[in-house]
Amino acid sequence: MRPSHASVALALVATLSGGRVPPRAPSATPTVVRRVVELTLTAAPARLELRAGTPSDVFAYNGQVPGPTLELREGDSVVVHFRNQLPEPSTIHWHGLHLPFAHDGSPFHPVPPGGRHDYVFTIKPGAAGTYWYHPHPHHRTGHQVAKGLYGAIVVRAPDDPLPASLRERVLLLSDNRFTADGEIDFPAKGTPAARVDAENGREGDVLFVSGAVLPTFAIRSGEVQRWRVINASAARVYRLELEGHTLLRIGTDGGLFERPVEAREVLLGVGERAELLVRATGEPGTRALLRALPYDRYIPQTRPVDWNVPRTLAALQYGPEPPVTLASSVALPTVLRRVPALDTTRVTARRTMVLTQHLINGRSMDPRRVDVSARRGATEIWEVENLVGMDHPFHLHGFQFQVLSRNGVPEPFPAWKDVVNVPRHESVRFVVRYDDYAGKWMFHCHILDHEDHGMMGVLEVR
Ligand code: C2O
Ligand code: CU
Repeated sequence: MRPSHASVALALVATLSGGRVPPRAPSATPTVVRRVVELTLTAAPARLELRAGTPSDVFAYNGQVPGPTLELREGDSVVVHFRNQLPEPSTIHWHGLHLPFAHDGSPFHPVPPGGRHDYVFTIKPGAAGTYWYHPHPHHRTGHQVAKGLYGAIVVRAPDDPLPASLRERVLLLSDNRFTADGEIDFPAKGTPAARVDAENGREGDVLFVSGAVLPTFAIRSGEVQRWRVINASAARVYRLELEGHTLLRIGTDGGLFERPVEAREVLLGVGERAELLVRATGEPGTRALLRALPYDRYIPQTRPVDWNVPRTLAALQYGPEPPVTLASSVALPTVLRRVPALDTTRVTARRTMVLTQHLINGRSMDPRRVDVSARRGATEIWEVENLVGMDHPFHLHGFQFQVLSRNGVPEPFPAWKDVVNVPRHESVRFVVRYDDYAGKWMFHCHILDHEDHGMMGVLEVR
């Protein structure tokens, strides 16, 4: 028998806090409080010090880079008043969220300079997880994200099985490149540098964690923290390691796994998210570095100088206080939440998506063309085959999917994803069900330069 959320929560609190009574008594019937969350996001040019002491011309949401973190709950009605004060068309795409087509912020609904759009959607039950938002105008996504338009979204569940007392951090990972005079280095179209970026995907040598360069995070020996990590980079893959620590991977794009997984390192492809428990097994007063280890994504053009060197992202600083309970010896919870596997016996179609440089099934994005059409409610299996010698992260709008196998190796358990890295010459199979919303949904490589060069197609759900 599977433990219910309530019993799991109790068990987990007990194991993590050494038997103390949980601060919040989980109830068998969680009360869902419906809220309306209304906010304005204005995209506009600004001049900001992305690196201390060096101002750069940026594009910012509400004057900040990254944009504000949206804190949402399952069941929320969300109204975002978007004002586009950029000199070019833009949108806001709610990466990973299941919402009506007109509010997906895809290239089908550009908002002109000076224009506005109200994005209106509801957060569905079970959607608790880590998401992000970014512009998605045709051909200009890479440019606008590089200029600073991206932000985090956290969606919480009323019956979250983890203790609310855990300190939580959002680590929104991004990288950027600057010219000698301090401006964001986004090469002009047609230049040799732009051609390298178009093939490799643009990487930068300055790494940002939620907008900060090399931030320090405080932790107390014995404490457990919950980290939500988002890869908002245009092309960089993060192979994360926390020096001297074993991480506990508890979730991915669409929220918690069924059970936690111990990991020495966590590979986070472009657009992907990871939920982690960090158990502070270090001594008071010590420090541990969060690093991105070298990862070869087999780029065809000139490699960035730092491609085979570990890069430090942040430092974890242990306070001087004596340890709280011994986190290293805690028994691990067996189940976080139930993630039912999508029923693959009801599959109505199997699709093959062949990836080659800048093309999907040999075609470049054409908004007037429908590449795949399907009925609402249908369940399909997609096989994404990467024929070329570099990794491509594959993203589907509108619906989250469950990876069935990678290169023929079955996934150990079902989990909700919306982007999956497909390594060179490998393939990934996933199952997806087109719940609720009709519309035209993009699928594309999430290396933004590839997407902007047409490595994208349209799924029409009717
Ligand atoms: Cu995160 Cu179509 O994008
Ligand atoms: Cu690609």
